[in-house]
Formats: sequence, structure tokens, C-alpha cells
Amino acid sequence: MNPTLHTLLSHKTVRDFLPFDMPYSEVALIADAARRASSWMNGQHYTIIRITSPQLRQRIAQASPHNPQIAACSEFWIFVADVHKADVGGRAYSGSFAASGSVETLITATTDTALAAQNAAVAAESLGYAVCFVGSIRTLAADLIEWLALPKHTFPLFGLCMGKPAVEMRLKPRLPECVSVVENRYPDDGVLSEALAQYEKVMTEFAEEREKLPYREKFARFYDNEYAPQNREVLQRQGLCTQTDGVQAA
Ligand SMILES: Cc1cc2nc3c(=O)[nH]c(=O)nc-3n(C[C@H](O)[C@H](O)[C@H](O)COP(=O)(O)O)c2cc1C
Repeated sequence: MNPTLHTLLSHKTVRDFLPFDMPYSEVALIADAARRASSWMNGQHYTIIRITSPQLRQRIAQASPHNPQIAACSEFWIFVADVHKADVGGRAYSGSFAASGSVETLITATTDTALAAQNAAVAAESLGYAVCFVGSIRTLAADLIEWLALPKHTFPLFGLCMGKPAVEMRLKPRLPECVSVVENRYPDDGVLSEALAQYEKVMTEFAEEREKLPYREKFARFYDNEYAPQNREVLQRQGLCTQTDGVQAA
């Protein structure tokens, strides 16, 4: 197997890190790999903010008690979906940025940001580091916008912890391939239900400490409530996703 596939197929999230200063030469390689990701129309609608200030890192970690890896990892980066650059460019050219609040614009920015982040994660793993994405920073979105001086048309999507693993993790089973990678048409609900039941058995045997609920119950409960509902308003304030029901909000 080639080393790229080996890295990809060995991915495991790690949440415990050893104290270690990542050499800047490796930080730079990971950043280059992130910036090399494909992006919609080469727009590169993201900004990666390395949290190098110990005080700022501590503040973010303290506000994220369920994710102590934020404090412990070598590098903590925040991936910001960013169409502010397009706004600055658009206003300089034509004086307007009409599509700033469209759902499509948000999809474009979040897609570009996620692809850059995954490149960073794979690059870090290829160098022997472990990673953990931290989406729960979205519960702090309003604070992060202030702490990181994020302008309008940006939104902090998730963090990425990188560092030396302090524990050995196991490969986490995935949903059966027959419902994740399919040919020509979406799988029937019957196939889907069977696959979900089968996955629940596999995950029960895997017995992960963090995942106590069966898949269907976990997501039934999770999607019963909206995650971080305050972000609807935060996004609107950021000038993102302002167009609802086909009508542009003021
Ligand atoms: C966008 C995103 C956000 C995530 N947020 C968190 C998080 O806030 N805290 C955490 O411990 N893990 C987080 N994870 C890690 C997932 O829990 C993990 O990838 C998943 O359980 C699969 O495990 P694996 O990566 O080891 O295969 C996140 C992953 C992604 C892709």
C-alpha cells in the first residue's frame, strides 16, 4: 500500500496529547498542504487562524470544558469560513456583493474551508501527528468572532487539534459501504434501515466509551433540538445566510 493510502486508512481521532512543540518547518508544511486544497473557482474562501497566544488558547479551552485537547495539543487552528475577501474584492470592483447572504455562498465557503482542513489533518497525520477536529467551538461562535477580530462575512466553523498522541486509538467502524458509496442511485430506505441496524451491532461490539447510544437513537435525540440555535442570529449578524424564503433580509 502506498504511504498516502496508509495515512488515510489509518485515521483515528485522538483526544489526548503529549506536551510537545511542533517544529515550525512542519507547521509550515501542514499549512501549505491546507492551502493546496481545491476550492470553488479557486476562491479559497477560508482563513486559518493559528492560535499561538497561550492566553487566547487558554481562554478558548476554558470555554470548551468538554474538549480539553484544545489546551493539550501542540497546534490549535481555527478554520474560518470566509467570504470577507470576496466582499472586499467585490466592493472594490463593482461596489456590491449581492450574493453575500445566499445559502449557496455559505455552502461554497464551508466546503472550501472543510477541504482545506481535511488536507491539514491528513498532512499532520502523514508526519506522525494525531488530530482532533473540534466542531463544538461553534457554541462559542459569537465570542470567537470578538476574540479573533473576525469581520463580517466570516464564521468560525471548527478547530483542529494536532500533536503527539498520548494514547493509542482503535479504527472506528464506518457505516456499511452499501449505504455510503453506492452506484447510480440512492439506496432504498429498506436497505438503509438494515444497514443502520447492522452498524449499531458493530458499534455495540466496538464499545466506544464516548458513543453509548445506538446510531439511530443518538441522532434522533440530537436532531430533536437545534444545535447552537444562537448561531442563526450570529450568522445573520455576520451577513451570512440572510436570504430566507427567497427574500433577502434587510
Ligand atoms: C467537523 C467535525 C467536528 C468534530 N467535533 C468534535 C468535537 O467537538 N469534539 C470531539 O471530541 N471530536 C470531534 N470530532 C471528531 C469526531 O467525533 C470523529 O471524527 C468521529 O467520531 C469519527 O471518529 P474517527 O475520526 O476516530 O474515525 C469532530 C469531527 C468533525 C469532522
